[in-house]
Amino acid sequence: MAEPATLLVADDDPGLRESLERTLTREGYRVVLASDGRAALERVQAGGVDLIVTDLRMPGLTGLEILLTAFGTVEEAVKAMKDGAYDFLTKPFRREQLIKLVDKALERRDLIEQNKELKKQLEDIRAKGQMIGSSPAYRRMLSLVEQVADSSATILIQGESGAGKELVARTIHERSGRRAGPFVAVNCAALPETLLESELFGYEKGAFTGAAGRKEGRFELANTGTLFLDEVADLSLVTQPKILRVLQEGEFERLGGTRTLQVDVRIVAATNQDLAEMVKEKRFREDLYYRLNVITVRVPPLRERHEDIRLLAQHYLRVYAAKNGRKLESFSNEALERLESYKWPGNVRELENLIERTVLLARKDRIDAEDLPEEVAGVKRPPRDAILELVGTPLAEIEQRLLDETLRITGGNKTQAAKLLGIDVRTVARKLERREDDQAEGPDRS
Ligand SMILES: Nc1ncnc2c1ncn2[C@@H]1O[C@H](COP(=O)(O)OP(=O)(O)OP(=O)(O)O)[C@@H](O)[C@H]1O
Ligand SMILES: [Mg+2]
Repeated sequence: MAEPATLLVADDDPGLRESLERTLTREGYRVVLASDGRAALERVQAGGVDLIVTDLRMPGLTGLEILLTAFGTVEEAVKAMKDGAYDFLTKPFRREQLIKLVDKALERRDLIEQNKELKKQLEDIRAKGQMIGSSPAYRRMLSLVEQVADSSATILIQGESGAGKELVARTIHERSGRRAGPFVAVNCAALPETLLESELFGYEKGAFTGAAGRKEGRFELANTGTLFLDEVADLSLVTQPKILRVLQEGEFERLGGTRTLQVDVRIVAATNQDLAEMVKEKRFREDLYYRLNVITVRVPPLRERHEDIRLLAQHYLRVYAAKNGRKLESFSNEALERLESYKWPGNVRELENLIERTVLLARKDRIDAEDLPEEVAGVKRPPRDAILELVGTPLAEIEQRLLDETLRITGGNKTQAAKLLGIDVRTVARKLERREDDQAEGPDRS
């Protein structure tokens, strides 16, 4: 559990100060006291105070002055008020009112802190490049990329569709000694065999009907740089040995040409298929597989990078809000939870598209759960979270609430409720009887 929050209670009335201290301490908060504005300000500036509960009128400094001094500027203070981290009560007030307000303010404060932290992380990322991700899985991948980028080794990037394979390939190029050279990408799935070969190797004049002039292929264009073979599993069994030869000898001929050309190209390949399995099924050459797969970088799917969902969502919110001239700054906590619960079969690309759509359709300046598309908004929170939320609640109370809720669902039918709860119906009856007895003794137990 987190440390209890520290509240500073500032009031010149000693009676009220002590009663507030008692109330808030009983709620589990740490309470520190100040008897006037100046003492309060000193205590705040010493640090470690999460929330101030202050009287507005006090000798020395007023509550408002403390607020302004603590925030530095009027704008900041006003913003904090708008964010709901600030509220007021008129004396006399009831204890419950105060407790509710304190809880709410602390919750808002946590959100604001989280937002600041996210913004900071995003700025760090922007300074370093575009690969967003701080989850353990993504960081592990990034450190492997760092380690292997600056070599001439062939790299095979494996990962689901939309997971960010091309981004990894570009990053490898940028962080290699070849960064001054070209980065050339070829999608092996996009073209039929002969067209693909003429793209890759180029052709001489008259190599085939329509070859009016000579054309340099992508291997030549990528000389001194990196050639990215995307969707490499789609290479035909005819083209595969020709690629293997370039990998092994660094040489090839243009289509219709006799001259052997030499190139200095580093190959980075990507696939979302299981190449090893394809080798077993003889759909992919084993020798080419081993040549390509000197080093494998596995890009984890988004659902294995839980921590990155928030970061990416915030990032794309900014990008698309700016692009469309919208004033959208944040997600509600619930919206973020929904985004985190979703499985993201289309990975980062799906997230990006979804945020773009959501930004276009948003009507407020904050994205709430109901603004999200159905497939995401409809996701129930995993039961794990529901349990976690109950931590801190006495077992007896959980039992009561669970029993009540179950009976409500069964329309008061004790037999059905007992079945759902996995207990004997007599136990249900006994629990209800006992509660009636307790209530007969009166609710006042304080
Ligand atoms: N870590 C990341 N940080 C920021 N943006 C990312 C990240 N990973 C992926 N993206 C973005 O997600 C989109 C999809 O990434 P990319 O095209 O690299 O995926 P892919 O694995 O090559 O997908 P496909 O298999 O569909 O070709 C791109 O717009 C890319 O910029
Ligand atoms: Mg791709």
